[in-house]
Amino acid sequence: MNSALPYASGPLHLGHIAGSYLGADIFVRFNRLLGNEVLFICGSDEYGTPITIKADKEKVDPSVIAERYHKEHEATFKGLDIEFDIFSRTTYPEHARIAGEIFLDLYNKGFLKEDTMDSAYCNTCARYLPDRYVEGTCPNCGFEKARGDQCDICGKILDPKDLVRPVCAISGDTPEFRRTKHLFLLLDRLQPELLKWFDGKDNWRQNVRAFTRNFIGNGLKPRPVTRDLEWGVPVPVIGYEKKRIYVWFEALIGYVSASIIFSKEKGDPDYWKKFWQDKSVPAYYFLGKDNITFHSVIWPSILIAHSSLNLPYDIPANEYLVLSGKKFSRSRSVGFVVDEALKNYDKDYIRYYLSTILPESGDAEFSFDELVEKTNSELISKYGNLVHRLSSFASARSLSVKRPATLDELSTGAMEKCRKTVDDWKNLLEAVEIKKALRKILDLIQYTNAFFNESRPWDLIKTDSEKANEKIWVIGFLTAWATVTIFPYVPSSARKIWKTLGFPGGVENGLTTLQGKDFAFTPVKSDPPFKPIEVSEAPAGPHLVVGEIGEVKDHPNAEKLLLLGVDIGTRKIRLVAGLRMHYDPSDLVGRKIVVVENLKHSRIRGEESQGMLLAADDGDHVRYLTVKDSIPVGAEVKIGNDAYGDSGEISIEELQGFGIRISERNGSQIAISSRDGREETLTVNGSGVFPEKPVKVDSPVR
Ligand code: 2FM
Ligand code: ZN
Repeated sequence: MNSALPYASGPLHLGHIAGSYLGADIFVRFNRLLGNEVLFICGSDEYGTPITIKADKEKVDPSVIAERYHKEHEATFKGLDIEFDIFSRTTYPEHARIAGEIFLDLYNKGFLKEDTMDSAYCNTCARYLPDRYVEGTCPNCGFEKARGDQCDICGKILDPKDLVRPVCAISGDTPEFRRTKHLFLLLDRLQPELLKWFDGKDNWRQNVRAFTRNFIGNGLKPRPVTRDLEWGVPVPVIGYEKKRIYVWFEALIGYVSASIIFSKEKGDPDYWKKFWQDKSVPAYYFLGKDNITFHSVIWPSILIAHSSLNLPYDIPANEYLVLSGKKFSRSRSVGFVVDEALKNYDKDYIRYYLSTILPESGDAEFSFDELVEKTNSELISKYGNLVHRLSSFASARSLSVKRPATLDELSTGAMEKCRKTVDDWKNLLEAVEIKKALRKILDLIQYTNAFFNESRPWDLIKTDSEKANEKIWVIGFLTAWATVTIFPYVPSSARKIWKTLGFPGGVENGLTTLQGKDFAFTPVKSDPPFKPIEVSEAPAGPHLVVGEIGEVKDHPNAEKLLLLGVDIGTRKIRLVAGLRMHYDPSDLVGRKIVVVENLKHSRIRGEESQGMLLAADDGDHVRYLTVKDSIPVGAEVKIGNDAYGDSGEISIEELQGFGIRISERNGSQIAISSRDGREETLTVNGSGVFPEKPVKVDSPVR
């Protein structure tokens, strides 16, 4: 079992988790429940341009970046209970050795051939540019900031030479293309074998098949697998000492090297062979859709050429998780980073919610409001409540619940229903339908709650203790099944609950226990297993952020209005502003302004305004509000002590309620709010917000 090795170049966000890691962890735990032996592999992808770009920005060695994020990722996964057998590193010498060995093997077998290609060389930077360092216009869709490896808008895989008007991303200068020699992987030669293998993959998700078919298209071409770089795994071929193995070629081998390193550490050096050489053991690769072709074309090609290791069995790639567009705000995007989310929510709440929205067959939307809503109304109200009812009822009466000698028809029916639901759960998980399998568990929980209500054990116990025992046993049995089946999703909670209910053994062995003959249990008194997430309504108010004006155009239908393109850090928005009579459009370009980001969108004379800029109006002049030069775009502006980041949309009336106006303090003009008679200053990173040129004191801001 493998999860794509994340680049050690920045913090993990919830989109990564939903894409490549949570589903894998659930699938691994599920397989272990069934008693299957699993080797669960991941690690840091430490070479590659995402790391060097970051290092260049921070002016440090790439190893500093890789080290930082390797450690951080390891901790993040731990925080979410995502437990790989090994979280390896591609900078381990053992990895370089194994990658070099496989590279050389392909070279010796004639699958790598020297050829020349034109590489981008920047004269200003005096170096060859990695694909991602070259930017230009996409020849396919016209997007102006496409990167040399791929266009982010249309997804086309590109070569830097394909770009129209290519520039170096660092210096901004036009690179020249120099003819250099490289080793090429002969995908054309491997194609017939690859197609034969691909043809049998009917078990794959439809999107993965489609992506792959598309990529193979009318035939594969040789691809260069060496690069002119310093940061990477050396090429073990004479004459190539200054070049490095292409990061994808070597990172994919990371799955193998991690398995070998793990086996050595475990003291069983041949352990990995079971998983890589026994043909009956299926290899799964969990990843996001941008990684599909590397795993469904390049990696199998390498493995076919190498010919001693298992090819992928399934590549259950996910689509993207996107933050709910409507309520997007900077503070929300900050929370999207896993470590931030973990500060606010229990790991199992995050695991649970993400599992309900995994982007298995299409992009999915994430929202914190929904996280709260679903956790409270499903995991806690349904499952937590069932557990607590059962443990309270049984522990209050000191019940030790034994398997009854006979079951009446209703009880048998309940058991049958449970068996069917568990079968469905198992079939779905075997097909890696993780989200759907969770729905089955919820069905079972709901059904068990209903059975609890209908069988009224609290009445029965007064008159017929044997019948009461029978019903409580059935409820316990069903709850135990719910707990085992939900264990892969919320392992830490399920473990605790299993103990509270006094179920025998550990939940990890629950499947065997429940299939045995004499299931019995003695619940202990305890608090509810989950704490509901408190919903604190953020006060409604303007979410103010610093923006920078990009493009300025005249409004087509109104002579006093301008259309502004504004960068607010998280995205670009478009504003309609009444500045035409006060400014020359060219004077506005590049200026910092303050934007009400969450104002209800409106159409002004036929043009949409996605917010509003703050400007003071003293009757004669209108002056936009601005901030110190050093304040970055996207910074949040506070009113008093509050930043109204999460307050949802506001109306123009609500904004006016804040009574923002210009005041004078120590001889300088600043913006204040005088809501309800309280005077609060507007500040951003500790400094004030002021009109671009002085206006009359007390001028209103609108
Ligand atoms: O997209 C990424 O984050 C890559 N680092 C994934 C690599 S997967 C494999 F090659 F290791
Ligand atoms: Zn494009």
